[in-house]
Amino acid sequence: MPLEHPRFRERELNVFVKRDDCLHPIMSGNKWRKLKYPLQAALADGVRTIVTMGGRWSNHLHALAYACGQLGLRSVAMVRSDVGEPLTACLRDCRAWGMELRFVSRGEYRQLRESPPDELLASLEQARWLPEGGATALAMQGVGEIWDELGDEVDHLITACGTGATVAGLAANAPVGSRVSGVAVLKGEAFLAEDIGDLLSEAGSNRRDNWRLWHDYHFGGYAKATPALLEFVRQSEAEFDLPLEPVYTGKMLYGFMERVKQGAFARGSRIVLLHTGGLQGQRGFGKRTARAQ
Ligand SMILES: Cc1ncc(COP(=O)(O)O)c(C=O)c1O
Repeated sequence: MPLEHPRFRERELNVFVKRDDCLHPIMSGNKWRKLKYPLQAALADGVRTIVTMGGRWSNHLHALAYACGQLGLRSVAMVRSDVGEPLTACLRDCRAWGMELRFVSRGEYRQLRESPPDELLASLEQARWLPEGGATALAMQGVGEIWDELGDEVDHLITACGTGATVAGLAANAPVGSRVSGVAVLKGEAFLAEDIGDLLSEAGSNRRDNWRLWHDYHFGGYAKATPALLEFVRQSEAEFDLPLEPVYTGKMLYGFMERVKQGAFARGSRIVLLHTGGLQGQRGFGKRTARAQ
């Protein structure tokens, strides 16, 4: 969908939004892309149980719970949560779709980022681990398919960046001449680029020069927001007739508009903003604290 704005006309920019939020009412955005091949492989390999991890408003858990329910797979999630925190609307959905929730402390959650819960995996029937956000080389393959749907030449593709798997998948599969910019939604100056490099290596890709990260638009960290960001999201939704949320797509669009102001794009550039979905997370925004993500 084309995006119109006086600033784009002034600078002769051709801006489009790739509406991956419209892929499916529940498994939307990059979740559809990232889960497609890992779940196909799990079914082909006779896996019966998917075990994963996520926060209380995780888009990954939400999409995975739904997909596993549809595919007849058991799903188990290690959920980062403080004692006594109530179930979020997101977790209630996950449970309704059959996901088993196991609550872990922040410390245990950090540990899971380093190493999967081997004992638990061994105790479950035909279980397979999916890391946080579903960030794997197979996930990158699904993300890469976005390019097949973009048609004309794209100079810049802009996306929100959390674990980095979406940037890595786009960069690994980008046509020559297309650049990928990831708007970091968390404070990850050093480790994010390293993680993306690792994912690219794992996928056997040597693309190192066609992507970059913008670190100036995280608004204090993951799922943190200022009144200015919330107001920007509200205004942009109305101005562009585009549903957004403040955790991912709102920061992506904010970062992009700032870079346009700074004159970061050459005249005549064709730019695609990737709408990575995540709109379910909007439901609890405002009620929850940033720490409770
Ligand atoms: C809606 C949305 N957009 C963007 C991202 C960032 O994707 P990635 O973790 O692959 O960097 C996520 C998290 O996975 C997400 O839920």
